[in-house]
Amino acid sequence: MADGPQRGAARATDVAVRPVRVADLAGVIDLDQRNTGVAKPEYWRDLYERYTQPARPRFFLVADEGGGIAGFIIGEVRAWEFGSEPCGWVFAIQVKPEVRMHHVGSQLLDAICKSFRRKNVNKIRTMLRRNENVIMSFFRSQGMMAGPFIQLEKDLDDVPAEGDRRT
Ligand SMILES: CC(C)(COP(=O)(O)OP(=O)(O)OC[C@H]1O[C@@H](n2cnc3c(N)ncnc32)[C@H](O)[C@@H]1OP(=O)(O)O)[C@@H](O)C(=O)NCCC(=O)NCCS
Repeated sequence: MADGPQRGAARATDVAVRPVRVADLAGVIDLDQRNTGVAKPEYWRDLYERYTQPARPRFFLVADEGGGIAGFIIGEVRAWEFGSEPCGWVFAIQVKPEVRMHHVGSQLLDAICKSFRRKNVNKIRTMLRRNENVIMSFFRSQGMMAGPFIQLEKDLDDVPAEGDRRT
């Protein structure tokens, strides 16, 4: 967009949301590197292999703007983890900086929700850092709210690896 991003539906960028193709991978890797500052080609190639298996309820969708991708979203149906009924998990969404706030992210989320519904799932979940205000505002704008689970963690630096003879 030559005149920069603005808020609101009037500025929605028209994209076609479709399943990722191998030819999109370079664009995904490049977009992630721009967003995070870290190049992870092996990670994205591995995800591509694992999330394009037709028999599995996994979705790796891109926003095709004709001649390139404007963003992508990845998620899957997970069943019975932590006692939860099957639900849709979104674990990655990225939109390229030039078209943010043009409802590309909304179109990606809508599409993956429809994919989840096709798998008879009626709940969507995600996880984000508490201080990520943009992504928090985005998911809140889509009607997502705090759920019933909390995340716990612990450093394992002092736990010897299996087979490690340290005492
Ligand atoms: C989060 C992200 C995917 C949103 O994509 P987007 O295409 O810009 O989002 P949309 O245009 O569909 O925004 C929908 C709503 O989200 C909210 N929103 C989006 N960006 C916002 C911002 N920068 N500030 C405040 N609210 C924002 C607004 O309510 C907006 O609705 P409105 O435009 O009618 O006001 C995008 O900002 C992004 O890629 N961020 C960096 C990557 C990232 O952090 N990914 C998450 C970890 S995997």
